[in-house]
Amino acid sequence: MISCRSGACAILVGERLQNLPAHLPDCRPIIVTDANVGGLYRENFPPAAVITLTAGESSKSLAVVKDIYGQLLDLEADRSSFIVAVGGGVVCDVAGFVASTYMRGVRFGFVATSLLAQVDAAVGGKNGVNFGGYKNLVGTFNQPAFVICDLSLLKTLPEKELRCGLAEVVKHALIKDAALLTFLENNGASIRALEPGVIERLVTDSVAIKSAVVNQDEKESGQRRILNFGHTFGHALEHLLHLSHGEAVSIGMVMAAEISVNRGLMSAADAARIRRLLKSLALPTCAEADPDHLIAALRKDKKRESDRLHYVLLCGIGKAVVEAVPLGELKRHLRQVLPRMR
Ligand SMILES: NC(=O)c1ccc[n+]([C@@H]2O[C@H](COP(=O)([O-])OP(=O)(O)OC[C@H]3O[C@@H](n4cnc5c(N)ncnc54)[C@H](O)[C@@H]3O)[C@@H](O)[C@H]2O)c1
Repeated sequence: MISCRSGACAILVGERLQNLPAHLPDCRPIIVTDANVGGLYRENFPPAAVITLTAGESSKSLAVVKDIYGQLLDLEADRSSFIVAVGGGVVCDVAGFVASTYMRGVRFGFVATSLLAQVDAAVGGKNGVNFGGYKNLVGTFNQPAFVICDLSLLKTLPEKELRCGLAEVVKHALIKDAALLTFLENNGASIRALEPGVIERLVTDSVAIKSAVVNQDEKESGQRRILNFGHTFGHALEHLLHLSHGEAVSIGMVMAAEISVNRGLMSAADAARIRRLLKSLALPTCAEADPDHLIAALRKDKKRESDRLHYVLLCGIGKAVVEAVPLGELKRHLRQVLPRMR
């Protein structure tokens, strides 16, 4: 359960898409989905108008938001309408932003269909779109009424997308839960086989970690910053190298771990352990990136204040700290750690 200034949100791990009507208010819902998820699951949707987005990150744009506003007007949606996103992180981010801004805000809920959305994107009330080539530059903090994490939907998720979701589970383990990291190390085969008990633990633990952090600091003025572990360089890599979010975060976490070693906060053995786990989950751990380009991309990061950036480091497995690090220092670290990561 998330309970913050912008609202309360019930997170229902294991609930089914088929039971969505039980969570809806007494009005005709408007469903936002993408072409892949709609194609697979439309027959399980309750009676509703359906707005279908092109699948993928390109839908996280103001142009798509504008198009949805138009469709809502055509559907005569008003302030009593209820919008449900049924999809991965992209659909949830866009639909949450539309619902938060259309007519100054209508009620909304999420059915998270990708692992990444269930363990991260759908939880916490951050909604938004990309702008000017930069991630999530325009958005809101606003909680959905509910998040349904239907684990049975993961059976149709492409393997690459499953891996991307696992990157965010590893992030949660690294910042808050050493036992979860050991569980990930010991259960690789069961995770790949989508063994229900194992997947349920990954989603439940991730939701618990993220909810606890968000409940303390909804608007990211302090503690919530630790959820950005791996995302500072991750977002820059996603933009520069056109990687998927989870792949970029995986490389960003290795960079952050190596910079933590450089700063004397964490042992090289722990950094090697992190790299081993990510590799065993078939996630990338290095990239050919130019430090100058990476630092230039960070200049548009929302976490930047003047020439410093709130950067998340590790003091050990399960222990994250946020430090204001000058961009110049980050660049020096990058020159040292990038060759080490190859
Ligand atoms: N708001 C937040 O706090 C937050 C946190 C982390 C990530 N994000 C955002 O989430 C996005 C990434 O999320 P994502 O990885 O879910 O991306 P996505 O929504 O693009 O989904 C990935 C792919 O999987 C497909 N898919 C989803 N569910 C499926 C299913 N059950 N079966 C078959 N195919 C399915 C989608 O159609 C898409 O092609 C990024 O834009 C990222 O910035 C947001």
